Amino acid sequence: MRRMMRALFALVFVALVLIGRATAEFDCKKTQIAGYTYDLSLLANDITLETNTTTPPTITSTKYKVNPCAPLVAEPASVPEIDRCPENAWICRSVTNYKNDDKPRVTEVGTVAGVRKGDEPILEARTNGNQSPTTFHWKLAGAEVDKLTWSADIQFICDKNGDNKNQPQIVDFKDGLLKLEWSVPAACALEDGGSGDDGGKNPDKGGDKDEDSSGGGFFSTIFTLLVVGFALYLVIGVMYKVLVVRANGLDIIPNLAFWREFPYLCADFTQHMWNMVSGRRREGYSVV
Ligand SMILES: *[C@@H]1O[C@H](CO)[C@@H](O)[C@H](O)[C@H]1NC(C)=O
Repeated sequence: MRRMMRALFALVFVALVLIGRATAEFDCKKTQIAGYTYDLSLLANDITLETNTTTPPTITSTKYKVNPCAPLVAEPASVPEIDRCPENAWICRSVTNYKNDDKPRVTEVGTVAGVRKGDEPILEARTNGNQSPTTFHWKLAGAEVDKLTWSADIQFICDKNGDNKNQPQIVDFKDGLLKLEWSVPAACALEDGGSGDDGGKNPDKGGDKDEDSSGGGFFSTIFTLLVVGFALYLVIGVMYKVLVVRANGLDIIPNLAFWREFPYLCADFTQHMWNMVSGRRREGYSVV
């Protein structure tokens, strides 16, 4: 019995954590890292990095297509379907082999980052107190290839005097982990005047850091968690009552006694608060 309850609580907790992660939607324009805002939307493009290696008698070209803000745009129909980057990929790796004048042959296509719809990167930074991080990591897992899950780790480096057109540098691709390094002004926090070319287009720039109207704010997340938590409590509670306790009728509602009392508790509380407020008002000034 006890163990069962504990298992149920664990289940609810895991569900809440998962939902909590899913509700915090990734917004490149107002990326939150350690309480600071970054505008990575200036980098929102499909960027192609190509390196050629001589592999006699052929040339092997390795391409990485990268977009730090969204899944890559689907490739045109002119590319054979089998050679296209998979859907929902944010970073895609492909290898093409060139041999004399033969038609180039795509020998590998794989998703380095982003597999399912809704996959989003996580951003990590170390902070030392009051300074905004000048370097942070963008991490997202990709597809499983040969029992190895590929993933990407982009290290962003704040470079105030650089250009947002600077391309990421490939550090290495080893054991399925692609490491990139990207030095751009967009990797500087907005409060530092990081992305100068924003030019006042963003009126709430540098405003409230932890609450925004787009729904990703702290309070809306808490609210969502409460609502979802309550729904889960009801569903799991009813399931428990029906399947384990074998209750029927009104008894399937979990904690029935408490919920019977609940409206009266609320009424009492409201009455109490009202008395306090109106009492104080009466002392101060009269309500017309
Ligand atoms: C790589 O080699 C291919 C085939 O020779 C060529 O078309 C392409 O431009 C090369 N890319 C780079 C970055 O050198």
